[in-house]
Amino acid sequence: MTSIPRSLNRANRATLTDASVDVLWSTETDADGAFVLPDGLSGHYFTISAVGDVASGGLPRRPTESTTIFNGDGYVIRLDLKDRAAPRLSAKVLGVPSLLADEITQAESRYSLLRFRNFGVSRFSPLLGMRNTVNTAFVPIAPDLEGRWKHARLLVAIDAGRPWEIDPVTLDPVTPVGRNDEWKGDGSLGLPFPTVFATAHPIWDPKTNEGFMVNFGKGMLEMPDTMPVMHEVHAAQKEVRSRTRAVLETVGLKRVVRLRDRIGNRLKSDAATVSTALSGSGNMLSTFFYLLRWDGLGDLQRWNLVDRATGVPVKVINSLHQVQVSESHIVVMDTGYQVGLNSLISQPTPNLQLADELLRDAVSRRPDPILRLYIIKRSDLEPGGAATGDPSGMQARVPCTVATLPAVSMHFTLDYAERDGKLWLTICHSSGTSIDGWVAQYDFLATDNSRPNPEVMGMLPAAAGLSRLAHYAIDPLTGGMSHCDLAMRDPFQWETALYGSSQGFTTLDIPDEVAATWWFGFGIWPEVATVAVLDEYADYPLRVTPREHVVNELKSGGRPSSLFRFDHDHGRILDHWIAEGDDRGCVVTAPQWVPRAGATPDADGRTPAFIVSVVYTAEERDAQGRCVPKAPQFWVFDAWDLARGPLCKLACPELRVGFAFHTAWLEDVAPWEAAYHVNVHQDYTSRFSPLTSGVVREVVKEALERFDASLREREERLGI
Ligand SMILES: [Fe+2]
Repeated sequence: MTSIPRSLNRANRATLTDASVDVLWSTETDADGAFVLPDGLSGHYFTISAVGDVASGGLPRRPTESTTIFNGDGYVIRLDLKDRAAPRLSAKVLGVPSLLADEITQAESRYSLLRFRNFGVSRFSPLLGMRNTVNTAFVPIAPDLEGRWKHARLLVAIDAGRPWEIDPVTLDPVTPVGRNDEWKGDGSLGLPFPTVFATAHPIWDPKTNEGFMVNFGKGMLEMPDTMPVMHEVHAAQKEVRSRTRAVLETVGLKRVVRLRDRIGNRLKSDAATVSTALSGSGNMLSTFFYLLRWDGLGDLQRWNLVDRATGVPVKVINSLHQVQVSESHIVVMDTGYQVGLNSLISQPTPNLQLADELLRDAVSRRPDPILRLYIIKRSDLEPGGAATGDPSGMQARVPCTVATLPAVSMHFTLDYAERDGKLWLTICHSSGTSIDGWVAQYDFLATDNSRPNPEVMGMLPAAAGLSRLAHYAIDPLTGGMSHCDLAMRDPFQWETALYGSSQGFTTLDIPDEVAATWWFGFGIWPEVATVAVLDEYADYPLRVTPREHVVNELKSGGRPSSLFRFDHDHGRILDHWIAEGDDRGCVVTAPQWVPRAGATPDADGRTPAFIVSVVYTAEERDAQGRCVPKAPQFWVFDAWDLARGPLCKLACPELRVGFAFHTAWLEDVAPWEAAYHVNVHQDYTSRFSPLTSGVVREVVKEALERFDASLREREERLGI
C-alpha cells in the first residue's frame, strides 16, 4: 500500500522573506548546464494554506486535538518566478486582529476564559467571538482603468468571514472589505468578532470594475451551529474552567452518551429556548441571503434575494462557496457541504473518545444532494431594473432564478458570453467528498476496520465515490437545463474539486468562453478512507459509485493522484498526467494557469501557458521509522501537454506547509496603495456595548495596537 504524504498535514507557520528556491530539475538549462525555469514562465504564483492555530503552533495537531486541516490560520505563499535561475519565495501567516487576540489570550493565563478553541471547521472564543482565519482563496483585482488604483490588488476570502485585502509585496493583511456594520452576523451575540457567513470566492469583473459577494444566515432554528458559542458563553460566565466539564455541561453530553438518539432534539430544543430569549432582547437570529456589490472603493450595496417565480425570500440550503458572472447575470452556487452543527463541533471532549464519536454521528447532517444555482440579472440591479428598495440599507430586494441540478458541487466556471440566451457552465459534482470531514482517532478504516495511523489525523477523508464533470447550458430565466456533457473517468476523478482555468484567478480579462479547465484528482488513499464517510453516503440518492467498488479500489491499494484537462466543447478529458511509477506516492494540488510570457493565441485560440501546482512527494523515513519533514514542491506543466509530465520541479527547503488550497497569479506585484481602507480601530471598538467587559476591551485594544504595529513595520520595510 502506498502511504499518503504526511507533508499534507505538516506546517510550521514560519515567516519567509525572499527565501531561496532550488530548481531541482528542469527540461531547460543555462549555459553552465544548471537547471533553470522554463522559458516564458514568469510573474508571481500565489497559494494559500491553513497552518494550524496559535495553540497548536502549526501542524500536525496532537491526535486528541485533531480537527480538519481546513481549520487553521491562513498562510499566504508567493513564489516569485522573475529570475529563471534563482526563483524566490515569501510566506506569512495573515495577522488579522482576531488572530492577534488569539495570540494574546493564549499567552496570558489571566485571559484563559477568553481563549479560542476549535469546533470542527471553526474556532471560537466564548467572550470574543469567532475567528476569521482568512485561509481559503484569492480574488485578484485588475488595475483600475480610470487610474483610481494603479496596480493589481489582491483579496483573500473565506466562507466564514469577511474578505481581507493584503499587500501583495509584504503579504500583510491591510484592510477588511466592508465594515463590520456592513456585514450581517449569524447568531451574533454582539461579541467583538462576529460570526459572518460569506463566500470564499467573490468574483471581480474587470470589464465593469465591480465585485460581487454574498452574506447569509441560516437562522437559529434552521442552523443550530451557533449553539456552541452560546453555551460556551454561559459556561464561561459561570467560570467553569475545566474544558471537559464545561463542554459536558454545554451540550448535555452526560445524557448524550446514554441517549445518543436524542442529542439533536436536545440541541434544537436548547436552540429554540435561546432563540426565543434573544429575540426578546433584540438579537433576533433570522434567515437572510444578501447579494453584495462593491466598486473597490466605497460602501457595499446589498439586495435580499427573492424567488423570481414566487417573490418569497430565498434560503440558503447548504452553504455558499462561489460566485461567478457572465455578461448579463450573476450566479451563486449553493455548495456541497453543510454549514451545520457537525461542522462546528469536533473534539468537544478530548478525554472522551466514545462521546466524540457518538456526538459526530448524532449531529451529522449530510448535505442536501440537490445543487442549487441562484441566478440574478445584472440589469435588475441598475436604475429601472426589477430590484426594489435602497441597496445602501438592508431591505432592497432583487428577483433571482433558482436552478437545480442533481448532485452537489464545490466549484464551477461560467462563460462570460451568453450564447443562445443561455448560461454555459462547467460544474464539478464532488458528491461523495466529505469536504468538511477529517480523519479522527475514533475512526475506523474502510479496508480492515483498524484505527487510522496517528500521523494522518486531521487529513481529508477519502471520497466515497468518483466526482463528475459536466458542461451545461442553463436558461437564466427559467433555470431549465438544455445541454449537458458529462464526464466521469476512473482514475482521474477521485476527489476532484479544484481547478485552474484560462485566465482564471489572474488580473487578465475574463474570457468570453472558458474553453478548458485543469483539475487535479487527489486520488484515493486507504490510510484516510474511513467507514464513517462510506456510511455517510451509503444510501445517498444520487450515488453512482457502488460502495463495493470503492472498497475494492482501497483494498487493491487505492488510486493515484492526477492532473487533467477537461475540454468544455467536447465535454471530455482530453489530456492528463497521472502519478504512477516513481511518482506513485505524490499528491498534486493547487493548479494555476500561468500564461507563457509574450505568447499569443495559436490558430485554435489556445494561449500557450503553464500549469503550476503544489506537489507533495512520497515520504522518507529515518532509521527509527519516523517521518522526515519535507518541503512541498512546485511542479510546472505545459498546460496543453500534461501527458509530457512536469517540465520543471522547484522547492524551497525552508517551506513547511500542508495542503495548499487555492491559487492566483499576478504578472507584477506592487505595494498596497490604500485606495480603500476601513478604520479597523473604529470598526471593532464600535462593537463594544455597555455589557462588554473590561477584560474583553483590553484584549481587543491590545490586538488592534499590534495590528497597527504590523502596518507600521510594513511601511518601514517598504520605506514609505
Ligand atoms: Fe474553493
